[in-house]
Amino acid sequence: MTDKQCDIGIVGAGTMGANLAFNFADHGYRVALYDEDELKAAELAQGKEGAGMLKAGKTVRELADILHRPRAVLLMVPAGKPVDDVIAALVPYFDEADLIIDGGNSHFSDTNRREKLLTAKGMLFMGMGISGGEYGARHGPSIMPGGPFQSYERVQKILEASAARVDGDPCVAHLGPGSSGHYVKMVHNGIEYGLLQLISETYDIMKRGLMMNAYELAEIYSKWNSGELNSYLVEITSDILRYRDEKDPNLALIDLILDRARQKGTGKWTSWDAMELQVPTPNVDAAVMMRNLSDHLDERREVSEVLQGPEHRFEGNPAELVDHLRSALFAATVVTYTQGMALMREASKSYGYGLELETVAKIWRGGCIIRAAVLEPIRAAFGRRPELPNLLMDDYFSREIGSRQKSLRSVVKTAAELGLPAPGFSASLAYLDAYRSAWLPANLIQAQRDYFGAHTYERKDMPGKFLHTEWKDTEEDT
Ligand code: 6PG
Repeated sequence: MTDKQCDIGIVGAGTMGANLAFNFADHGYRVALYDEDELKAAELAQGKEGAGMLKAGKTVRELADILHRPRAVLLMVPAGKPVDDVIAALVPYFDEADLIIDGGNSHFSDTNRREKLLTAKGMLFMGMGISGGEYGARHGPSIMPGGPFQSYERVQKILEASAARVDGDPCVAHLGPGSSGHYVKMVHNGIEYGLLQLISETYDIMKRGLMMNAYELAEIYSKWNSGELNSYLVEITSDILRYRDEKDPNLALIDLILDRARQKGTGKWTSWDAMELQVPTPNVDAAVMMRNLSDHLDERREVSEVLQGPEHRFEGNPAELVDHLRSALFAATVVTYTQGMALMREASKSYGYGLELETVAKIWRGGCIIRAAVLEPIRAAFGRRPELPNLLMDDYFSREIGSRQKSLRSVVKTAAELGLPAPGFSASLAYLDAYRSAWLPANLIQAQRDYFGAHTYERKDMPGKFLHTEWKDTEEDT
């Protein structure tokens, strides 16, 4: 590299940081790298990949020195305290108008706080979701930036060059002010949790209900991936099921993996905020609940010895069940996206993000973990009606879901009969049935709350009036 200044800095030379650095370098951008492990950054800068385009800063001061002014630096460090620590370390060497971008999975409230802090110093801050894992970072992720538009403009070219592309369009767009980018990434992950849960339920029903082995299952997911269910997550499921153990190639690796799923927290944050904003996201809630339940491994093993249920084996027509599963998975997938989009619609209003849901769906079509063919019709639905409150109100989706209702019911019924847990499918069906119900039994809940707590209720024929009734006359009766 010449002694020219670098176009962008990256703090954190872990897998994601390194791969993004190579990706930026591939597109002709000079990258300054800093890692608290000095050797790590130096090794990357001297390596073959990205040669001539990467330069390591031994210290934060050196990083600041080798960056083009006004500076732009991307933090790729674990969410939480490390982000605050790096910001505190950078600030003394950075100037007004310099830009710090947090590319991790930070909680949106932290992003709001950090933006305030840096704005007060005259600096710029941007919270930016990045999805696509290692491969995406290297070859084209989906990028979800939020913050002041002037910040985005400063790095727009480099982000557009490095993001995934679908139909020639980069999977990146300025989403809105403040923490909008991190909020959208959080919901992306919430949807990711929901979809992983649904796929795992289809796997369970076919494995324990139809006694299919991993290789047979791999074929099914591979077939599904060539149709309406075409998506990254269905595709990798097939790859995973086909993978043989290196120690014993007669075994499928999946059968040797412990049935306990961990989590970093973005799914839980999605559910929390959905509760806060009173937007139902039962598919995300169910997915978080199942990860938590999977973690109670010893208890499950003990209870499985004493609490018996029905025979898991399905006695009906296997091909028919597989067909219902495919159709139900599509319906429940749409319901999961529906809940995520509805949450973003409400968050956009409550937090002033001004999100365009068409744009969100558009940049999720490539690069990210939840990329799927269905995101194109989702994009189109919000394109037709930008203020669409719920995807199920869209004619296309209400028809598509309507025609798959039978399969969804059949899967929920079969799972219940076989004693196989399917909370993702059940939640999808309950959401669907509740959402398409002009009447719900909430009148009884209103009356009960008024009975025991004088919380008042609204009558149908007296809208806007809140009444209380003494449901029992005498005190000793209550
Ligand atoms: C992505 C992923 C990424 C990561 C999740 C995993 O978009 O690239 O979502 O962010 O894989 O954080 O989250 P859990 O550890 O909570 O499952």
